[in-house]
Amino acid sequence: GAPAAGPWQLAVQRTCLIMLVVQNSVLVMVMHYSRNNSSAGSSEPIYLASTAVLLVEVIKLFLSLLLAARDISLAHPRSNAPELAAKLYQSVFSADSWKLIVPAALYTLQNSLVYVAISNLDAITFQVTYQIKILTTVLFSIILLGRRISWRQWLALVLLTSGVAMVQVSGSLDLEDWKERLTSLLQGGGVPSALTTAGFSRFKGLLAVLAASLTSGLTCVYFEKLVKDSLSSVSLWTRNVQLSFFSLFPALLIGVLWQDGAAICRDGFFAGYGPIVWLTIALQAVGGLIVALCITYADNVAKNFAASFSIVVSYAASAIIFKTPLMLHSTGGAAIVLLAIYLFNSRPSPRPALLPLRESE
Ligand code: C5P
Repeated sequence: GAPAAGPWQLAVQRTCLIMLVVQNSVLVMVMHYSRNNSSAGSSEPIYLASTAVLLVEVIKLFLSLLLAARDISLAHPRSNAPELAAKLYQSVFSADSWKLIVPAALYTLQNSLVYVAISNLDAITFQVTYQIKILTTVLFSIILLGRRISWRQWLALVLLTSGVAMVQVSGSLDLEDWKERLTSLLQGGGVPSALTTAGFSRFKGLLAVLAASLTSGLTCVYFEKLVKDSLSSVSLWTRNVQLSFFSLFPALLIGVLWQDGAAICRDGFFAGYGPIVWLTIALQAVGGLIVALCITYADNVAKNFAASFSIVVSYAASAIIFKTPLMLHSTGGAAIVLLAIYLFNSRPSPRPALLPLRESE
């Protein structure tokens, strides 16, 4: 079986997960703001998501390269700079680096879908619907990693999904919108065109978030398998260099050139960029690295619990900072999320939050 985690490992796990909670809470608010408010009142076009997706990968590549170089220099303290560079090159373009091509393509797709979703849905609906990835992640962990989940943990997962849905209900249920829709239909006027557009946009956003949930579960579990299968031979940061390197191609060719090439020629690559956009990009790049740490030192399911917990944090933060009134539904939902987190982790095991691999693994 898996060795018991010592206090040091538990501390590392918790630190990674707490960093993810903070990063996720801030990111969703900033990202939504950047897509919906940053160009309000100005004639500048809204920034292109494809350019942001590309820049995030460039920054992650740079940071991962630095971290991978540091790992290599620690392992070979006597080597000089050219020797270290050669070692770094060898480890990045090792025989099995091609294994990162598929996850790189899938993550790039996922990161673009997230932009489609967040531009078409309100922040809460997006954040909550995206939690479907909790279930896809568990399913792929069972299929690809042979993980087992106890009944208590299944119950916790069901509670978690219901809890986040409840936080959503009062957040996104726009009664006025529905009243207007109904009145208009009853009067034989059909659905007002402004509402049809809003409805279509919402539908598009929901489809995007569902597709992103599917790729999230599959890709994160695949990455976890790769890192944990070969933790000894290839370092995490080298894997991340490979991941970002292969992501540059789809992000550049499909996103920037094919999808938005014309708009970039017309308005420029950095059209609509401002401090909030750069903050979004920086938060996403750092977030990617935190996700990689959580996958490695904890696991994907724990990573998703941390992300769900960030919903509770955002909810509490918006109540305190923006004085949003507390709603019975949302507060109940938040309490259920907390209960689910407790239930999932409270088992008589020395490794809370970690699911054991099968004995054969
Ligand atoms: O929502 P989810 O947890 O699936 O998001 C994963 C995010 O983390 C993606 O944006 C992906 O690009 C990033 N990531 C990363 N490096 C990894 C794993 C994920 O940058 N090793």
